[in-house]
Amino acid sequence: MEWQSGLNFSPIKQITGKTKIVIFLTVDAGFRNLLFNFEMNHLRKLVKPFVMSTNGMNQYLQAARRALRWQQEHQRQMKCCRFDTIATHGIYSMQEALDFNQGSIIEPIYMSTSQAYRDAAEMEAALGYQIPTWCYSRIANPSICYLEGVLALLEGYGSEAETSCVATSSGMSAIQSATDPFLAADPDKPGAPVNFVATAQVYGGTFQQFSVRKQQERKAEWRKVVHSGDIAEWESLIDENTRFLYGELPSNPCLSFFDLKEVAALAHQYGIPLIVDSTVATPALLRPIEQGADIVVQSVTKSLATSGFCIAGAVISRKNLVSKINNAPLKADFATYLKLLPNRDNGPNISPMNAVMALNDIRTLRMRMDQTSRSTLKVAQFLQQHSNIEKVDYLGLEDNPLHDLATRYLFLVDSEHDDQYGSRVNRYGHLMSFRIKGGRRKTHEVFDAFKRIWRATDLGRIKSVATIPAISTHSQQGEEGRRLACIPENMIRLSVGAEHPDDIIRDLDQALSVIGGKIVKVSGPEFSAGGASSAGLG
Ligand SMILES: Cc1ncc(COP(=O)(O)O)c(C=O)c1O
Repeated sequence: MEWQSGLNFSPIKQITGKTKIVIFLTVDAGFRNLLFNFEMNHLRKLVKPFVMSTNGMNQYLQAARRALRWQQEHQRQMKCCRFDTIATHGIYSMQEALDFNQGSIIEPIYMSTSQAYRDAAEMEAALGYQIPTWCYSRIANPSICYLEGVLALLEGYGSEAETSCVATSSGMSAIQSATDPFLAADPDKPGAPVNFVATAQVYGGTFQQFSVRKQQERKAEWRKVVHSGDIAEWESLIDENTRFLYGELPSNPCLSFFDLKEVAALAHQYGIPLIVDSTVATPALLRPIEQGADIVVQSVTKSLATSGFCIAGAVISRKNLVSKINNAPLKADFATYLKLLPNRDNGPNISPMNAVMALNDIRTLRMRMDQTSRSTLKVAQFLQQHSNIEKVDYLGLEDNPLHDLATRYLFLVDSEHDDQYGSRVNRYGHLMSFRIKGGRRKTHEVFDAFKRIWRATDLGRIKSVATIPAISTHSQQGEEGRRLACIPENMIRLSVGAEHPDDIIRDLDQALSVIGGKIVKVSGPEFSAGGASSAGLG
């Protein structure tokens, strides 16, 4: 079966067989581009006759096969490029722009709900997934396909593994899409219990999805790994009814980290996949598939789409993954399976507008992750020596117990090809947490005194943003849930943006001075909305 991210079709059985395709595959590389052009020109000439055609599906199938060959070769060429080039161009080619998109150099936003077909034969082939098609925007859409293509390439960067991607309406729907198919009832063991093993240190929304939606409502038991560095603890929770292992790397907000290769090997030893939420790292710092994971979920909303214009998610998977589920397409190409079947039926698709918003920000991912990581280290070092700080959680700090482990995994991609560095350099991301001496009241006072850092339940933004997880992102899971996830009430989570770090440090310094009794003037409620809101920020 042949699957390809975004535009897909199943085996072409009715093709009449043209030797040209065989020649195309065997010529040396120097002639390939020529042949692609020939293929595309030939394809264009075929378009008009198609409109008039009543010959049935075969012509569409043949044209589809040529288009797929062309796409595959284009992707192969993109795979030879460096990370920044892939992030900038993705799978959108000059040829596609000139031939199909009036030369638009930026990926067009196709807002149409649906695609028109020339005749019944094309429609039948399309809806049967026999030709590249997008059909209907709940299933696929060209703008969405561009996002999926670039994310598949970036998460697969540097790895031999073939990857594919399905984009979703949010990070939470990506997590649901990535996990639910593995919790399906086993027809060979009807009524058998089902469980999954996942770290307790996860984003609050994930905690709720796992504990309420899966465990309480669907009776899929969440077996919590509390000490994720302890491989024996992971293993002790696995049995014959375990469907997958799951972890966040690094975790939000307490920056926990586990040995990815070790946990992936454990999953495979038990014939189950490892799913990793790599939102905080992004593919600029960590590509879990390269390290052995099977599926990656991203809240694209965060650093990937840093401007804060869209909510978006993605599932990226390796082909031919390990699973006990008896479902061949699921194992062959999980992300494409999700896209064409479960997500078609459940409808968690992203909007084309949001897909292009995310695409635009992805182009600058590597440089942003470099800069914000360097700034965050500076901010963390400042906080660490501050007398009003109880503890700083940042993987880049040398005295963090997980520093050495994180140092083995978190690298700025392509730093060895960057004139500025010339060798592999570690970068630890833009997310950190710190704890205020003096408990809940003092913590709220410091938080309320920020003037430059935004108070919001958000991260990965181009602007620095802070939250108190215990009263926001992780409030719903209750005290016991927060204790397991290591989230005390005096913790402030800070996502450092692209401002100069000196200005963030200055803001933190003045906010921390409230503990010494200094009164900081903040805006009154009458200024909380409208254009005059800055008037009281003096
Ligand atoms: C690590 C992590 N995963 C998933 C999510 C959920 O993403 P979204 O808000 O896009 O649904 C978040 C949101 O903060 C997150 O931090």
